[in-house]
Amino acid sequence: MRALVADPAASPALSLADVPDPAPGPGQLLLEMEAASVNRGEIRSAAKQPPGTVIGWDVAGTVAALGEGVATFDVGERVVALSPGGGSFAERVVVPAEWTAPLPSACDFETAATLPVAGVTAAGILRLARTHAGDRVLVTGAAGGVGQFTLQLALQTRATVTGQAGSEERAAAVRATGAEALVHPGDGSPVDGEFDVVLDGIGGPMLAPLLDATARNGRVVVYGNSADAESTFRVESFYPKGLTILGFRVFTSVPPAQAVKDMATLADQAAAGTLSVKVQATAPLADALPLIADLYARKVTGKVVLTR
Ligand SMILES: NC(=O)c1ccc[n+]([C@@H]2O[C@H](COP(=O)([O-])OP(=O)(O)OC[C@H]3O[C@@H](n4cnc5c(N)ncnc54)[C@H](OP(=O)(O)O)[C@@H]3O)[C@@H](O)[C@H]2O)c1
Repeated sequence: MRALVADPAASPALSLADVPDPAPGPGQLLLEMEAASVNRGEIRSAAKQPPGTVIGWDVAGTVAALGEGVATFDVGERVVALSPGGGSFAERVVVPAEWTAPLPSACDFETAATLPVAGVTAAGILRLARTHAGDRVLVTGAAGGVGQFTLQLALQTRATVTGQAGSEERAAAVRATGAEALVHPGDGSPVDGEFDVVLDGIGGPMLAPLLDATARNGRVVVYGNSADAESTFRVESFYPKGLTILGFRVFTSVPPAQAVKDMATLADQAAAGTLSVKVQATAPLADALPLIADLYARKVTGKVVLTR
């Protein structure tokens, strides 16, 4: 079957390959992939994987076979899954049944494929920060995949929501959700405003100015280092204000049963039109590498989705 695999010689570190079909083990499902979305983390981690490893954490498709002990799904059923072990950028994908949710027929595969990592992360970081009505929330990388979901879910809590975007053009995607836009290059320069909750996926030089912009007793969730750089800051920037800094990683911070609930809720909301899913572009696996390069170069708002 065709798949996108880790290739350290390529840039980004992915290439198209023919690989053997996977077989489901105990507790696993084999899916016919209909759609798989791309996350920045997959592109970054591809460079660190053994060459030939099939990349990809998000998948929507139909169940083709059941592994031993799986009784809660039927062959032919439509599902959406998060695959912590990777493998979704391929025509057939093995996923853990415990990370899989049934997909309502009202939600199409391309929309569903955007939900696992980005949507579950958005729901998870808001929960971790105990976000509630009236909080002033700042979301960095807000025109990106996680950011677009986080803005909308934060607005649903009736918080006052601001999203950072790198340019006026990208800020339009922030304003389209109903949030305020903060145009900021994400380079570590000062951040205007004061926020009770800061949800940051940029990391590196942004952490210090984000701590400065966090209000007394504020909560800062750090979940990404898109800047791929160290963070340095004066401790006085946060201890006098009683700040809490919380780390989040979707595969370990969210129990699978919660992730399944979140994927199902998000799929229902997307189908009902109460969650807007922005897919900038789709491409079949064989033509997807330019889209993946665009995402890495910060040229994508929302998500890009791979198809068979
Ligand atoms: N811990 C977890 O479980 C978890 C889960 C999901 C994602 N993540 C991480 O969270 C981050 C966002 O993921 P994503 O999939 O939403 O990425 P994405 O779609 O590429 O969006 C990230 C956005 O961040 C902004 N940005 C600002 N400074 C940047 C920089 N130095 N380099 C790259 N982008 C920068 C860019 O928008 P502008 O150009 O408008 O500034 C970019 O579009 C990534 O670091 C990812 O690895 C972590």
